[in-house]
Amino acid sequence: MRFDRVVRGGTVFTPAGSFVGDVGIRGEKIVALGEDLPTEGAQVIDAAGHYVIPGALDVHVHLELPFCGTVSADDYRSGTRAAARGGVTTLIDFAIPYAGDTLNDAADAWLAKAKGKALIDYTFHICITRWAEHRDQIEGMVERGFPTFKEFMIYESEGWQSDDRAMFSTLEKMRELGAMLLVHAESARVLDELIERHHTPELMKEHGARLHRMTRPNFIEAEAIQRAVAWSEATGGQLYIVHMSTAEGTEIVKAAQGRGVPVLAETCVQYLVLDDSVFDREDGHLFACCPQLKKPADAERLWKGLKDGTVSVISTDTCTFSREQKAMWEGDWTKIPMGMPGLETLLPLTYTHGVLGGRLTMGEMVEKLCTNPARIMGLHPRKGAIQVGADADLAILHPTHKIAVDPAQMETNADWSPFEGWELAGFARTTLSRGEVIVDDYRVVGQEGRGQWLPRTHAGLRPAPERQTAAAE
Ligand code: URP
Ligand code: ZN
Ligand code: ZN
Repeated sequence: MRFDRVVRGGTVFTPAGSFVGDVGIRGEKIVALGEDLPTEGAQVIDAAGHYVIPGALDVHVHLELPFCGTVSADDYRSGTRAAARGGVTTLIDFAIPYAGDTLNDAADAWLAKAKGKALIDYTFHICITRWAEHRDQIEGMVERGFPTFKEFMIYESEGWQSDDRAMFSTLEKMRELGAMLLVHAESARVLDELIERHHTPELMKEHGARLHRMTRPNFIEAEAIQRAVAWSEATGGQLYIVHMSTAEGTEIVKAAQGRGVPVLAETCVQYLVLDDSVFDREDGHLFACCPQLKKPADAERLWKGLKDGTVSVISTDTCTFSREQKAMWEGDWTKIPMGMPGLETLLPLTYTHGVLGGRLTMGEMVEKLCTNPARIMGLHPRKGAIQVGADADLAILHPTHKIAVDPAQMETNADWSPFEGWELAGFARTTLSRGEVIVDDYRVVGQEGRGQWLPRTHAGLRPAPERQTAAAE
């Protein structure tokens, strides 16, 4: 057998376990795994002394998102370069319809943002922002290859907020179509009340960005998760809680899963490695995101939830804003552009604090960053696993080589990082996307625009109903 490329002599992590050996690649695909594969005529990529894992999937990303009165600073060029440097080879963004837009318009708008810029493969969750208008468009989007939808329980001022009626009815549709609803779970009305009570010049002067922490106690997330779970239980519709940040939320999801409710949960790496003490810093406003960073005990419970299977996925919720954009707050925490950079550091943080920190095994990390997101989002077996027939998307990591996080050296357009100065192992020495080397010696070498849209037929962990989709055509 002849190969175009052979990744040689690494510790390779496959669904069947790990082995020291080679990955044989022809064209865009993995075609062989084994020891001493023939290398005649092939480009040999030396992986001796390194881990070879599937390229990670970040299934929660916002690139070039109009939000909070500005536009998030990483676009498909900088965002996907950052992803590649961090060993991420697939991302899923959220296509959001604005006033008057159909769901198809939203998908078209996001496809246009990615075109000619994306270095890695991508697709989108479709956001349902006006149920009455969008309800009859859902099936068509599934047929077009978009089987995951998103509803926000907050963000009324953005025009994105969904109510219980929308959530309940969408979950009914998800069940009917074999699709999945992602939910941003925060309790809007109580949150509005807490914000209003605190929104005084005196309190803002006294507490500054700490008010973000003070107005988002854990019950804001827990109550909303409980309610979303209730609608999933009542309808049988597949639910996926995005960016879960609390111990209480984890307990609710665990109990629901125990009752057979079709609910899955994702957390983001920042909820595992940061806590809300950052708001005591002078630049604490930089760390504002929704939901808010929580306490160390919440992080502990989330790590445990990852270990016991309650939490299936680690993502980033990348929504980058520069220092200048964050400065728009001018002392009023309700005006902070919400979100942080993350794609470049997902894998290094999870590896350093998860695997080297003794909280996850390598196999568990691969499950949470690669295999589970691919399965849940309908991209498996093409993505998320090193096996014959899969896309040759690989990240090659040195087990101990650490790099200090320095925004000046990074691909993201952010001029700051929540992890600035942190010494992290797990940056990709080499990243391959569909057989092509796009990161070499820790530097991006791939050409922008080579990334492809990934149509999908199904989502969630249930078998998909029979249907004809763009992906099958
Ligand atoms: O603060 C955040 N998370 N910004 C992005 C929008 C969202 O809620 O996911
Ligand atoms: Zn959200
Ligand atoms: Zn988000």
